[in-house]
Amino acid sequence: MDASERISWLRTEIAHHNALYYINDAPTISDAEYDVLLHELIALEAANPSLISDDSPTQRVGAPLSGGFAEVVHGRPMLSLANAFSADELIEFDARIRRFLELDQDADIQYCCELKLDGLAVSITYNKGVFYRAATRGDGTTGEDITANVRTIRSVPLRMTIEDAPELCEVRGEVYLPHAEFRRINDLREAAGDATFANPRNAAAGSLRQQDPKITAERRLAAAFYSIGESTTPEPQSQTSLLEWLRSAGLHTDSHVQLCNGIHDVVAHIEKWEQLRSALPYDTDGMVVKVNDADMQRRLGSVARAPRWAIAYKYPAQQVETIVEDILVQVGRTGAVTPLAKLRPVVCAGVTVSRATLHNQSEIDRKDVRIGDTVVIQRAGEVIPEVVSVVVAHRPESSVQYVIPPHCPSCGTELVRPDGEAVIRCPNVAECPAQLQTRLEHFVSRLAFNIDGLGGERLAQMIDAGLVKSAADIFRVKPDDLLGLDRVGTKLVENLVSGIDASRTVTLSRFIYALGIRHIGERAAEILANHFGTLSALRGASTDTLVKVHEIGLSTAESITEWFAAHQETIDDILSAGVIVEDAAVPVSRDILAGQIYVFTGALERLTRESAEALVRSLGGTATGSVSKKTTCLVAGPGAGSKLAKAESLGITVIDEAAFIASLPDDVDIK
Ligand code: IVH
Repeated sequence: MDASERISWLRTEIAHHNALYYINDAPTISDAEYDVLLHELIALEAANPSLISDDSPTQRVGAPLSGGFAEVVHGRPMLSLANAFSADELIEFDARIRRFLELDQDADIQYCCELKLDGLAVSITYNKGVFYRAATRGDGTTGEDITANVRTIRSVPLRMTIEDAPELCEVRGEVYLPHAEFRRINDLREAAGDATFANPRNAAAGSLRQQDPKITAERRLAAAFYSIGESTTPEPQSQTSLLEWLRSAGLHTDSHVQLCNGIHDVVAHIEKWEQLRSALPYDTDGMVVKVNDADMQRRLGSVARAPRWAIAYKYPAQQVETIVEDILVQVGRTGAVTPLAKLRPVVCAGVTVSRATLHNQSEIDRKDVRIGDTVVIQRAGEVIPEVVSVVVAHRPESSVQYVIPPHCPSCGTELVRPDGEAVIRCPNVAECPAQLQTRLEHFVSRLAFNIDGLGGERLAQMIDAGLVKSAADIFRVKPDDLLGLDRVGTKLVENLVSGIDASRTVTLSRFIYALGIRHIGERAAEILANHFGTLSALRGASTDTLVKVHEIGLSTAESITEWFAAHQETIDDILSAGVIVEDAAVPVSRDILAGQIYVFTGALERLTRESAEALVRSLGGTATGSVSKKTTCLVAGPGAGSKLAKAESLGITVIDEAAFIASLPDDVDIK
């Protein structure tokens, strides 16, 4: 293959992987493998400049629009960064800058080093300090309007926290998903029978592209800012002062910023972080190195839509090869069947890995993973290990394609694939021992009933012996029954029985969590407990009532009503086995001002007239503009005149603004 053929092959290949990554959020190769392809293309084109064409992936920034969202033309293009993969390339970057600026060979340039957060670039426009619009980078010139979704990100302030906010200020940064949140979302998706996200970056991308912002809000995305686009603020003198300004405006910036003197300091800093980065609670795939001085930046300018003054150093992905010893099928508590690769143990990114998820049958098919295969595994997003690809050259001749068996490995029931779901399930919800086992493991787990001494193994024994067929049965086991179990002596029985007794009384939120309702994690359980206060209020709630609860979406609401519709007996059974569910703090009635008619007069200090009236209405009361016999309360501030006199003559209660605010329930938002 000559250079021109190779270039054209690389372009097609890269375009294909770009589409999988950016459009489908489902890459089939690792970032490191992608970077190798791109790097080879960059090198070949550099050696053969006549072969460069406009449609080469090296000439394009980012991804095409996926449609569905309105277009936003960026005030200033959103640039991309050139990449470096070695210390030599960083030194070359520094040398280029010196040549360009005609600097002395021994003058050290100051570089601002920032972690390269592995998420999605966003641009957010603030008008007079007020959050106005958010957009993706798109192709660098035109992005997608994702205002509604970005608005839900808590670390994005809706108003800048500075006195003299600029007329216009477009800030840029990265939206990403911290590891804990990534795990929480994938756990929920697994429980719900949805395909799990391959890594936090894809989960963040999927969340930003939601048509329903409520779903985005449920995924607690984070954002960190690192640059300013179109703006009426004076240009900061350096990258470090820019970051300081962003922080002063209330915009989150990543805390691991280091100012380095000269490129050798930069290299040392990057080496130090190669190890440290795996302990961070979010993903970083490299280090962005920026000339700190703004004047130098201006002189350097940009080329091919990337600034000359910055470069992204990319850490090599943490990948290793090992062998698939077996493929196991795991049955979850909702019956979802997940294939798992049992691996020959291998150390990857400092952790011994012996299992990797294979997600579902279509993932297995796409990668064609077989028992006996040598595979490349990667700690995806440095969190859970996944199989990246198969080394087909090392495949044993006798190997056969893997197909998930048609029957449940635990109860033998034929597996089903419900319409529209990616996941295969065992439909034998009531009796499948594997489902019962995982349901009960969840029921007794730390955040649920937290029963000391009752782990998976003991539960399995109890289920096998027929002692426990449901959650309620746990509270009915007798010491004598337990004594009959293998390797269980009196001491252990005592401990178990006292552990079970000690957890008979639970808080409402733990109880809700313990039920293992799809979509209900620890936080949702807490929200429900605080809202409804009692189990009886929750078990009788309709979907309509549930969706009105702040942060409970439609699919969650439906899953709750469906669950309770099918499990009223289960609950009664648990209660009759002696479980006591403590009520949560009595929720505040939303209608405490029903029948009350308020009038506001005079000046208000903390509230505006409109917001005070809106508050009254939100609590079920009425707000009117004039005092009459029907008025029940007049809120009078300084300067009150005729309305106050009339109210007094009619004997109507008169209070001031402070007393009005004090009379409201604690959890009312006062703006
Ligand atoms: S600066 C001209 N700083 O990396 C300025 N980018 O490979 C361009 N990224 O599109 C961006 N962390 O999505 C910059 N601290 C950081 C970054 C960062 C992550 C992403 C960003 C950018 C991509 C370029």
